[in-house]
Amino acid sequence: MTTLHEDAAEPHYLGQFIPLHYHHNMLMDKNRMDNFKAAIEFTVFEGAKVLELGGGTGVMSNYAAAKASKVWCVEFNPDLVTESRRFLALNPNGHKVEVIHADAFEYLPPEPVDVVICEMIHVAMLREKQVEMIEAFKARYRQRFGDKLPVFIPTAVIMAVQPLQQDYNFSGFHAPIIQFQRVYAEHPGSIELAPPQTYSVLDISQPTSREITWEGTFKLEQDGAVNALRFFTKNVLAIDQLHATTIDWVIDYLVLPLARPITAKAGDELQVSFSYLAGNSIQSLEKNIRATLNVSATK
Ligand SMILES: C[S@@+](CC[C@H](N)C(=O)[O-])C[C@H]1O[C@@H](n2cnc3c(N)ncnc32)[C@H](O)[C@@H]1O
Repeated sequence: MTTLHEDAAEPHYLGQFIPLHYHHNMLMDKNRMDNFKAAIEFTVFEGAKVLELGGGTGVMSNYAAAKASKVWCVEFNPDLVTESRRFLALNPNGHKVEVIHADAFEYLPPEPVDVVICEMIHVAMLREKQVEMIEAFKARYRQRFGDKLPVFIPTAVIMAVQPLQQDYNFSGFHAPIIQFQRVYAEHPGSIELAPPQTYSVLDISQPTSREITWEGTFKLEQDGAVNALRFFTKNVLAIDQLHATTIDWVIDYLVLPLARPITAKAGDELQVSFSYLAGNSIQSLEKNIRATLNVSATK
């Protein structure tokens, strides 16, 4: 069994170094864009100072610049540094955004900021370095500017898991394979055998560990072959206390096949456990999943 720390980040540093053409997909993703835009409009006040870690095309920084007096936008990929400067010059308020070519793991703004935007987020907080990035930033920031931290977008992450019977037949070819599923879409190949359970809540304003460990029991609601787990990730981008609501971004689901399918009946209890480090590979989670039927509970 692989230990949590053996599985280093992916060797090719993917997830951190997203190529330019992939940014088009991100701009086209209305679920992501509209919710970030709403959260930024809600959080950033007139005259605020804003920092974005991993600015990409500069889109989130530009949203912030509608009200902010100054936005520092840090980007590591030189292609994106060039392109974001070009795009920002085409947009109102783009002149308020300063794009800095630097490693966001090291950068600190020249003065305290009110809001930090960071979207280095992958489902289940795998692959991308959000948790590590924000924790490193908080430590550096406190050392330079004292204990009062800025507001973070997102401010929290809620993760859940659900057992599925997943159809892995592809035109007669059987292939239990990792897959992503669109949110707000029908998934006729997925039979939900029990409701999802929350396995982790990260409050970004508090010290946040990369280690995510969970053990829980699902009471199955129908007969089936449990052969996959579906992972949900909801990012709470902002909390609107006045209206008792939140602005959220739910990422596409991740469905991971189980090493061995388990035939079960309605009423059976399925015990599931896993652990992984935020920022590590999808395979690091897949390898650490354990799922067994609680025999004493079966009829
Ligand atoms: C998921 S994209 C989001 C881009 C943009 N904020 C948006 O929402 O469209 C993450 C961005 O972070 C950048 N990035 C990743 N690691 C970084 C680092 N260590 N320093 C600076 N930028 C980084 C990537 O190059 C990429 O542009």
